[in-house]
Amino acid sequence: MTLHNGYHAFDFSDLTAREAYKVMIGTIVPRPIAWVTTISPDGVVNAAPYSFFNCLSADPPILALGVENKPDRSFKDTAYNIRMTECFTVNIVDRANVQAMSVTAAGVAPEVDELKIAGLTAAPGDRVACPRIAEAPVAFECERYLGINISSAREIILGRIVRAHIREDIIDPATFYSDHEKLDALGRMGGNGYAGTLDYFDLPTPTAEEVLKPTRASLTLGNS
Ligand SMILES: Cc1cc2nc3c(=O)[nH]c(=O)nc-3n(C[C@H](O)[C@H](O)[C@H](O)COP(=O)(O)O)c2cc1C
Repeated sequence: MTLHNGYHAFDFSDLTAREAYKVMIGTIVPRPIAWVTTISPDGVVNAAPYSFFNCLSADPPILALGVENKPDRSFKDTAYNIRMTECFTVNIVDRANVQAMSVTAAGVAPEVDELKIAGLTAAPGDRVACPRIAEAPVAFECERYLGINISSAREIILGRIVRAHIREDIIDPATFYSDHEKLDALGRMGGNGYAGTLDYFDLPTPTAEEVLKPTRASLTLGNS
């Protein structure tokens, strides 16, 4: 590690996996949280939050999850169930559900129904075998698209969205615009931290003309 011109520079080949993780989760923030529901081959419902998550493509509509294996390298229930059933549902976490979400992060045995212990309701999937969380404001039913084994410790799972459920007060079905205040989604920060999404502002992207020939009006665009 070097300190130069006010910046600490870290060469990732010098960091332990834990140190690299801490550098990344403390600074790549806020991360959206996929509250993933799956079902085991025996029919046990599972839920767990994953913040190594984002949407990567709209056409085709692809989501990605980064799932770490357990310390003994065995799969977490989410990764195992997705592998076995080829489907999962990503529920979005809002402020109202954060305590219940936290309960589903506990490392309980695979035979425990995590929605039941969190006091949540399983709503049957329309296009996939696994349920969604009825209390969640948004849910994306996904078919497993691809699994990428990054190492013996981690897998990146890509899912193709086949159906979405969005609470009626959140989205306008005519324009497809969603109201972020009604959604009130949470993001994950470093450590045990979370952040809300209500500290919101608009900043239209300027055109090439505006940035190449700045005028008084375009220069003040970002200050509105
Ligand atoms: C907000 C939050 C985000 C998390 N993100 C991840 C993640 O991206 N990848 C991961 O492997 N574990 C993550 N975890 C830990 C898992 O949720 C935890 O290991 C859980 O027990 C896994 O459950 P499962 O075995 O039912 O899949 C996260 C935990 C919390 C609370």
